[in-house]
Amino acid sequence: MRLPENFVQEVLDRTDIEELIGRYVTLKRTGSNLVGLCPFHSEKTPSFTVSPSKNMFFCFGCHAGGSAITFVQKAENLEFTDAVAFLADRAGLPMPRETDDAGRTSGVSRKRVLEANLEAAKFFRACLFDPAIGKAGMDYFKGTRGLTEATIKHFGLGFAPNTFGSLTDYMKGKGFTDEELQTAFLCGKSQKTGRSYDYFRNRVMFPIIDTSGNIVAFGGRVLDDSKPKYLNTSDTPAFKKSNHLFALNFARHSCTERMILCEGYMDVIALHAAGFEFAVATLGTAITPNHARIFSKYTKKVIISYDADEAGQNAANKAMRVLGDVGMEVRVLRMSGAKDPDEYIRKFGADRFRRLLDESRTGFEYKLENILGNYDLSVGQEKIRASSEVCEVIAGYPSPVEREVYLREAAKRLELPDEVLKNSVERIRHKQAEAYKAQQTREVRASIKHFGDRINPDSAKDPKAAAAEENVLGLLLLFGEYRKEVVDGRVGLEASDFVTSFHRRVFEAIMRMQASEEGFRFAMLGEDFTPDEMGRIQRMEVARRELTENGPEVFRLAAETLRRIAERNRNRESDLQSRLDYLRKAKLHKGKEQNE
Ligand code: CTP
Ligand code: MN
Repeated sequence: MRLPENFVQEVLDRTDIEELIGRYVTLKRTGSNLVGLCPFHSEKTPSFTVSPSKNMFFCFGCHAGGSAITFVQKAENLEFTDAVAFLADRAGLPMPRETDDAGRTSGVSRKRVLEANLEAAKFFRACLFDPAIGKAGMDYFKGTRGLTEATIKHFGLGFAPNTFGSLTDYMKGKGFTDEELQTAFLCGKSQKTGRSYDYFRNRVMFPIIDTSGNIVAFGGRVLDDSKPKYLNTSDTPAFKKSNHLFALNFARHSCTERMILCEGYMDVIALHAAGFEFAVATLGTAITPNHARIFSKYTKKVIISYDADEAGQNAANKAMRVLGDVGMEVRVLRMSGAKDPDEYIRKFGADRFRRLLDESRTGFEYKLENILGNYDLSVGQEKIRASSEVCEVIAGYPSPVEREVYLREAAKRLELPDEVLKNSVERIRHKQAEAYKAQQTREVRASIKHFGDRINPDSAKDPKAAAAEENVLGLLLLFGEYRKEVVDGRVGLEASDFVTSFHRRVFEAIMRMQASEEGFRFAMLGEDFTPDEMGRIQRMEVARRELTENGPEVFRLAAETLRRIAERNRNRESDLQSRLDYLRKAKLHKGKEQNE
């Protein structure tokens, strides 16, 4: 889908780039700009700059840069259109309806999806509470899972009957179209007839409710061991998995001190029912940085309470990292005697679980236990290996105080003197620092020499031409009057004057936009260029802006230089061509002579 340009502009206008990036990076003001540590490469002195007045960001270290959209593309790993949707959502702007090739709108609004979900939730609940239809579901919740009716109602649980048409018929009776039902993911579309059919069948239904009280999605679980265990709503105009946490609508009222992160819906429901109303779960996905930021909005500390099996523990390790990255205090809960929190509470009761919560370990303790558990410490060799692994972990903590505390703890557990571990940690840190320095030097060298320039590989062949092109493009990016001069033909500059193919593409894109009705908009380049390429384009603009000389004379001269280089290259080529032609002829001639 190609987005209307004025919509993209409106999204950008409504996005406070300082506030947006401030959620990912701690920014400090310096004059009219803000600086911070770049989120896209590791650095110790800030070279990442945000300019609210220019509505752009740029890193002088790794040359990431661009608009708020580029930032979201990189930070959230999204395509251009999805990044615009992400920002539109934050700004409360509905995305424009998608149009098909014939220009017909084929989109369903977020509002309509939410209305459909609400109606469907009512239907599922009514089915659950109707014994003739929902007995199997009710038996499952009350019997198998031990839920009370109050809990069932509190969470708005439901039941989807084992039919292909009952929800579809009901929803159509309420005025919903096939397109709306399919977009909302409540109905599938039959391959043969194209008709809608109920997507969720013979499943107990868990509505997913956002913090504003909208029902944004559903999860549906089978009643037995058949597969797939869960069906979930895929992304719709009203829902993106990684933006939501199950039960956050309740948890947000009692979570300032701590929150519990579980794996499953049933864990959360059991915890809430037992009085732990600060439990949430991701929706069948691993935790993402986006989730971590949601947590950081609501609470200080997250206690990870995943399943006790190996998969759960691996996931806990990962979650610890993701949450730690946004500065959360993280703890991990160790359960034994039950496979998950739901089972634990049913077996041992809420009080025992509360004790587990209070005993939950810090990230380091947890990692330490994990490592020590892998070795037999009474064997010398194993003890050495365990301690070097532990030292690696400790060396990874940037705070010296933390390192000191963990060092002592580890030394005690390993029954080794503090000093031994301390030396080893310092050695590892020294090595890491050296490696870091070497890498930085390599990066700087590469960028100076154009070696390994993946974005514009041609620049290595003709650095002079590439530099001239950057000069011209920087000016064209900055100043509308120069773009106009080129479009109007007052300055003779053509795509064929560009030697390097990346710069040629940039030139063409700028000019195409300039000649269009809407005119040139920097951010719209994001539609044709990757975030990395956008960074390079932004760099040309920044480099040019930093030069004080920018008058029309400078532009004409720059264009002139570029044309001259192009001309010289063309001559060189034709010169070479004529030499080759000459040689070929001469050779042919010789051949003939010999034959005669
Ligand atoms: N999940 C999913 N699709 C699956 C399996 C799991 O989306 N096929 C998601 C669900 O959100 C589920 C969570 O992953 O709640 C945890 O999975 P699991 O532990 O298997 O399910 P539980 O909900 O804990 O179910 P139960 O306790 O009944 O095993
Ligand atoms: Mn489970």
